[in-house]
Amino acid sequence: MNFIETKCSFQPFTEKLIKSSDNFECENEDLNDFFLNDCINYSKKLLGKSYCFTLDEDETKIVCAFTISNDSIKVNTLPNNRKRVVNKTIPREKQFKSYPAVLIGRLGVNIKFGRQGIGTELMDFIKSWFIDKENKTGCRFIVVDSYNTENAKNYYLKNNFYFLFSTEQQEKEHMGLSSTDELKTRLMFFDLITLEIEE
Ligand SMILES: CC(C)(COP(=O)(O)OP(=O)(O)OC[C@H]1O[C@@H](n2cnc3c(N)ncnc32)[C@H](O)[C@@H]1OP(=O)(O)O)[C@@H](O)C(=O)NCCC(=O)NCCS
Repeated sequence: MNFIETKCSFQPFTEKLIKSSDNFECENEDLNDFFLNDCINYSKKLLGKSYCFTLDEDETKIVCAFTISNDSIKVNTLPNNRKRVVNKTIPREKQFKSYPAVLIGRLGVNIKFGRQGIGTELMDFIKSWFIDKENKTGCRFIVVDSYNTENAKNYYLKNNFYFLFSTEQQEKEHMGLSSTDELKTRLMFFDLITLEIEE
């Protein structure tokens, strides 16, 4: 059953919502702080829009939340072996230097609702938004700079995202980091064309 679509309401993150609901609490403190203190400002500055699902039977509970903004995958800056992966489903004559994408800048599920498939439902919801006929701009990929933790990476892999770089070492080189630097996040992507798109 689809929990968020049947038992929750979708809404933009607003000051009113923040005042009237319990603080959002997912497993990551930085994310909790962002949704409490920064997301409204971010939205006002047109840097990222935040949305959430609240629980219908108790509207003070934010079940899950995310922030999105426009982005792109610049294929011409990738190593050849990774260029091929991104270009896999794009005919040679249509291959560009850069493809339109949406960035999931933040995404979290309330700890109390964790590990029940809600993160996966949320990702299906986000994917469906960008293949919707009413979508105002072309958007081929979803990209995310995932926390480099097992549960975040597992979550995106389970939802059919791929690593943009094949190894941490390759990603560090691309970011200009030395091999001893810690890689805190991993770039991952999802190709929206792999979904059934209704004509
Ligand atoms: C990552 C997160 C969004 C997952 O949400 P969720 O509702 O628990 O996800 P789901 O129940 O749909 O789980 C999907 C898959 O994610 C992975 N996963 C989720 N939580 C995990 C954990 N604690 N440890 C390991 N893998 C985990 C598993 O592969 C899981 O599939 P499985 O249950 O079949 O093994 C949530 O744990 C969260 O908000 N974490 C903190 C913020 C964060 O890391 N955000 C993502 C990076 S920006």
